[in-house]
Amino acid sequence: MKENKTPYIKLSLKTIKENLNFFSKTLGFQKQDIYYPIKVNSDIKILSLLKNEGVNFETGAISEIEKLIKLGVSPQNIIYGNPVKADEHILQAYNLGIRTFGLDSFVELEKISKLAPNSKLYFRLDISNHGAEWALTKKFGCSKTDLFELFEKSTIFGLAPMGISFHVGWNNADVENWENVFEYIDEVKNDLKKQFPDFNFINIGSGFPAHKNDGKENLKEISKIILPYLNKWRSENIKLIAEPGSFLVAYAGILHTKIIEIIERKDKKWVFIDAGVFQGFFWSLSGINYNIRAEKQNNNENFEEFVVCGPTCDSHDVFSYSVKLPKSIKKGDILYIEPAGAYIYSAKEYNGFFYPPQIFE
Ligand SMILES: Cc1ncc(COP(=O)(O)O)c(C=O)c1O
Repeated sequence: MKENKTPYIKLSLKTIKENLNFFSKTLGFQKQDIYYPIKVNSDIKILSLLKNEGVNFETGAISEIEKLIKLGVSPQNIIYGNPVKADEHILQAYNLGIRTFGLDSFVELEKISKLAPNSKLYFRLDISNHGAEWALTKKFGCSKTDLFELFEKSTIFGLAPMGISFHVGWNNADVENWENVFEYIDEVKNDLKKQFPDFNFINIGSGFPAHKNDGKENLKEISKIILPYLNKWRSENIKLIAEPGSFLVAYAGILHTKIIEIIERKDKKWVFIDAGVFQGFFWSLSGINYNIRAEKQNNNENFEEFVVCGPTCDSHDVFSYSVKLPKSIKKGDILYIEPAGAYIYSAKEYNGFFYPPQIFE
């Protein structure tokens, strides 16, 4: 069998399909009510699989919308969720047939009213991200007071304010926070229903944990809290959608990387591998850990602590200063790093925004 040249991420479409089915069954979502956020991994094979499964798509950049349309996804099945968009991107999206936009500010509302008339809107609400490993609250989300004003103003502008969205923050296993957030959303929903008869949509976002492990047990725990709310809202004819990204793809990918050298320095053994933080694992820089193990290891071996670092000359290029690996590891051995299915491959054009070209004067 031909060996692949390291480094590479091995992906399993079978795992993605299993995760999709598990998610859909556990929370009672039809496939068409799952909107995959393509920023998480926009590989065409993943997008094609999800499209064929009947999943729809959430986008944050015009390049993502163009990619999906090229793939044959109908604009009706795409929502443009980035709360702050460049004017020309709103216009381009509208011209491509996109009619559903997410936002959280009055400035954006005015832009959309001019550039994308008669569109459907949902507003991202600021909620607690307590317990999230990567909070998303600071940059996005409006207050409840602003939410009501945004609903009112949209109608004046001739737009169709249909609902709300929120996000509990990336990798949030804090069950109590899920409970508090859903209780709060239930309250907001009751108040909105009283004032705005057209309100009929809640986008529950994501944040389902899938980093420390594949997240299935966490999802079962979270479902005990949120499923009663989801069922209640469904019985009130509110359209619910979810945007799971990490849960579907994170554990479908494993980085295969080779040890290029082991150096002993200052009482530590430094394992240099052929991919590092700057090959898509930028999140390590803020303390996010990945699971690292040797391809060939068994639990009866003797283990010791190593520093595992990438190949660049940058001294921040370190996965972790304390990884337990078999004492016997050596140059040329393969290490597995996971999860590597979410946000890694897509880091090179993160969220659909490309590196600026260099132009010489
Ligand atoms: C609006 C939105 N939806 C969905 C996701 C995917 O979240 P997760 O990786 O927790 O599945 C993100 C991630 O940042 C997001 O910003």
